[in-house]
Amino acid sequence: MKKLYGIGTGPGDKELLTIKAVKKIQGASVVFAPSNKDKNIALDTVEEYIQYKKVILLDFPMGKVTEKDYINAAQIIYTEIPEGEYGVYLTIGDPMIYSTFIYIMEKLDKNKIQVEIIPGISSFVLGAAQSKIPLTVKGDKFLLMDEFQENMLDNIDTLCILKTMKDKEKILDILENKGFSYAYIKRVSLKDEKILTKKDEIIKDKDYLSFIIGRRKADD
Ligand SMILES: C[S@@+](CC[C@H](N)C(=O)[O-])C[C@H]1O[C@@H](n2cnc3c(N)ncnc32)[C@H](O)[C@@H]1O
Repeated sequence: MKKLYGIGTGPGDKELLTIKAVKKIQGASVVFAPSNKDKNIALDTVEEYIQYKKVILLDFPMGKVTEKDYINAAQIIYTEIPEGEYGVYLTIGDPMIYSTFIYIMEKLDKNKIQVEIIPGISSFVLGAAQSKIPLTVKGDKFLLMDEFQENMLDNIDTLCILKTMKDKEKILDILENKGFSYAYIKRVSLKDEKILTKKDEIIKDKDYLSFIIGRRKADD
């Protein structure tokens, strides 16, 4: 049987890779990753463990991915992994959090290929550490989203909004009105990491690799 590991490569810092991820990458026959128009952070993070392995970049046009793209990717993955061997599919952060891996995994035929997931440190988990904003303490409710929804905030203590390219001003206005303090964290663990708390600076920034953490309670 063939096998595919979905591997979380973490937020970009090579030292935040798990030992398990490194070992699985080193033993893989083929490495898959989503193709990006500029830098591929997942591949960059693990480059020293890939060396001369076959690397296949799968195309997912940003904002326009169709069901067919995932079916094609699953087909390529199945075809490229030799019988009795395994491949790895790299994702930034964790594979189970807003990742193309989830859709691909669902398109693979479980009778023909086994799937296992090696978690990675998600961007927002590191963001909480870097900004020292706790995500939860006892009794708290935490909300993670990639599409901002005001009507979800009423009983929430902490929230994290990924993919904050659009509507930042509106989001920050609403957070302020509802009593949240916030930080905008960009490129966490990369050399140009920044934590911004001033509204005008946050609104001006346009980095895809960014998220907002908001917290309503006074920290204890
Ligand atoms: C498709 S989602 C992938 C999430 C990823 N699986 C995770 O666990 O972090 C892409 C979003 O993740 C966030 N992200 C991923 N890596 C990041 C980093 N190094 N710094 C800041 N945000 C990051 C951004 O919000 C970005 O828009």
